[in-house]
Amino acid sequence: MTAPATEPLQPLQFAYWVPNVSGGLVVSKIEQRTDWGWDYNVKLAQLAENNGFDYALSQVRYTASYGADQQHESTSFSLGLLTQTERLKVIAAVHPYFWNPAVLAKWLITADHISGGRAAVNVVSGWFKNEAVDLGVRWLEHDERYRNSEEFIRVLRGLFESNDRGPFTHQGDFYQIHDFQLKPGPVTSEGRPHPEIFQGGNSTAARGQGGRVADWYFANGNTPEGIEEQIRDVTEVAQVHNRSVKFGVNGFLIGRESEAEARNVLREIIDKADREAVEGFGGAVKQAGQSAGDKKGMWQDSEFADLVQYNDGFRTGLVGTPEQIAHRMLECKKKGVNLFLLGFLHYHEDVVHFGEKILPIVRELEAAELARV
Ligand SMILES: Cc1cc2nc3c(=O)[nH]c(=O)nc-3n(C[C@H](O)[C@H](O)[C@H](O)COP(=O)(O)O)c2cc1C
Repeated sequence: MTAPATEPLQPLQFAYWVPNVSGGLVVSKIEQRTDWGWDYNVKLAQLAENNGFDYALSQVRYTASYGADQQHESTSFSLGLLTQTERLKVIAAVHPYFWNPAVLAKWLITADHISGGRAAVNVVSGWFKNEAVDLGVRWLEHDERYRNSEEFIRVLRGLFESNDRGPFTHQGDFYQIHDFQLKPGPVTSEGRPHPEIFQGGNSTAARGQGGRVADWYFANGNTPEGIEEQIRDVTEVAQVHNRSVKFGVNGFLIGRESEAEARNVLREIIDKADREAVEGFGGAVKQAGQSAGDKKGMWQDSEFADLVQYNDGFRTGLVGTPEQIAHRMLECKKKGVNLFLLGFLHYHEDVVHFGEKILPIVRELEAAELARV
């Protein structure tokens, strides 16, 4: 197998999940001092960019499900956060089946101009069948959803990349675009020629798509070995297509002064899980991945405790003292991880704790690693 085409000398980057839906990032009745409202989120975004975060990722959800009774829409919320921050890049999550890609490209470019080149998108292929059906969208089987998503990303990329050469035309199975040009075009900012395109998923279909068309591949929480396996697969595809892809992995971070304290918090989250909601969520996501048939889809081997965090974030093992968490991050970095996508219990406090106590150790370890090579 080919080694991952990552750059170990680049510093790790960090993103956080925007709590734009109610209930936080765990399906638990444990007390959470996290709020899904606007004012809380503005303060959070500002704290995050001052505590070492590069990106914020909004969630897309239009209707209540398994704990998220209230939901703010992802693209408008993301744009709002861009206007309230200076350096943070904000990634808006979208389902292709609710959008025309050229309309989304227009939204992204306007957001990019407003924010000085900080807008990005996370194209997700969806698991929540009832939401799509309730809104009148035909629910495709797993791999068809990915075919749809890949075509969607190809159109977005085609529009961005060909913009200075004139109008763009695309005749596909899902989208038809006739002689369309973005005016204005994307902002060119440091390290990226146009808004970055992220995607999420673990299945074989997701890995292929990631390698062929994404800038970034987001994985659910996993062990360093589980992450490495995906990175190798995606990298192999990318190399065939003469591309490189960066990797982000989800992790729910519980940092405390002692390991025992951190583990107690994790135990309490799981002990106080909203059992009915977790089981409902588990049933829906397993069903959504079944037609992939290869058992590599997200959540296919998730246990009850894993599902208490929507994206298997406990599996990444970011629970313990600042030293333990920093070492775990470096271990993942050696497997090819470029970015951690983090969720927290009490966002305001935990983001500051991350910036003050954990990040400096990560940077020290990275500097020591650099000195060795
Ligand atoms: C980082 C990340 C973020 C995601 N965000 C959302 C989201 O906001 N809304 C949503 O419906 N699904 C979201 N998903 C789930 C995807 O829609 C989809 O169900 C999943 O990627 C399917 O994975 P599979 O290819 O392994 O079957 C996200 C997935 C990942 C990895």
